[in-house]
Amino acid sequence: MKPLILIGGGGHCQSVIEVAESTGRAVQGILDIPEEVGKDVLGYPIIGTDDQIVNYIDTCEFLITVGFIKDPALRMKLFNRVCEAGGTLATLIASTAYVSRHAFLGKGTVVMHHAFVNAGARIGENVIINTFCNIEHGACIGDQCHISTGTMVNGDCKIGNDCFIGSQSVLANGVCICNDTVVGAGSLVRKNIIRPGIYSGNPAILKIKK
Ligand SMILES: CC(C)(COP(=O)(O)OP(=O)(O)OC[C@H]1O[C@@H](n2cnc3c(N)ncnc32)[C@H](O)[C@@H]1OP(=O)(O)O)[C@@H](O)C(=O)NCCC(=O)NCCS
Repeated sequence: MKPLILIGGGGHCQSVIEVAESTGRAVQGILDIPEEVGKDVLGYPIIGTDDQIVNYIDTCEFLITVGFIKDPALRMKLFNRVCEAGGTLATLIASTAYVSRHAFLGKGTVVMHHAFVNAGARIGENVIINTFCNIEHGACIGDQCHISTGTMVNGDCKIGNDCFIGSQSVLANGVCICNDTVVGAGSLVRKNIIRPGIYSGNPAILKIKK
């Protein structure tokens, strides 16, 4: 298996390194902004900037290791840069995570430690299924979503593209959430969300329009 190039050397990068190491997947290095080149993250060198993606497309696979809360734009931009350069996005599952063989994961998606993805779940591209998440049977998650630590996405939920679901939130069975939605940490979503915005609380209500 080809070694990984990680794009983005911040906190989420550290967590992804932990996942990669747990699977035995080699990390060749990290691409970041010019000021960071020459430094390292957990002992892995920052070897260049994202202008150098093209240098690694034959020998490595890529993962976007920029996290996000309210705005997935940078994560999306870097993902598109890899695709446009002809690079391959890896899909990574932590050694302690469980993904049903009846589930589907898109390219560039990472399932972090102790997460569970049940049968019939479909997860899009460039998604973060963070530590201790539970994605239940038949749930669908769009592209570029971040399902944050300890979140419970119950059976048959549908989450659109570019959504962030905050830590330890609960989505009731079958709830649908539209594109560009942010759900604050610890929220309970019991009804469909049909307009983009920031929703929080129990029950989750609109706090900030997008
Ligand atoms: C939702 C979130 C992004 C909003 O941040 P923000 O845009 O800075 O908004 P504010 O903190 O100003 O909050 C706006 C309103 O929502 C409320 N609110 C925000 N987060 C809330 C939450 N988790 N539960 C209940 N209410 C919340 C605030 O009290 C405020 O209400 P008010 O207008 O009635 O006073 C942030 O609160 C949050 O939950 N971040 C996610 C943290 C997380 O899960 N991190 C994991 C990373 S892996």
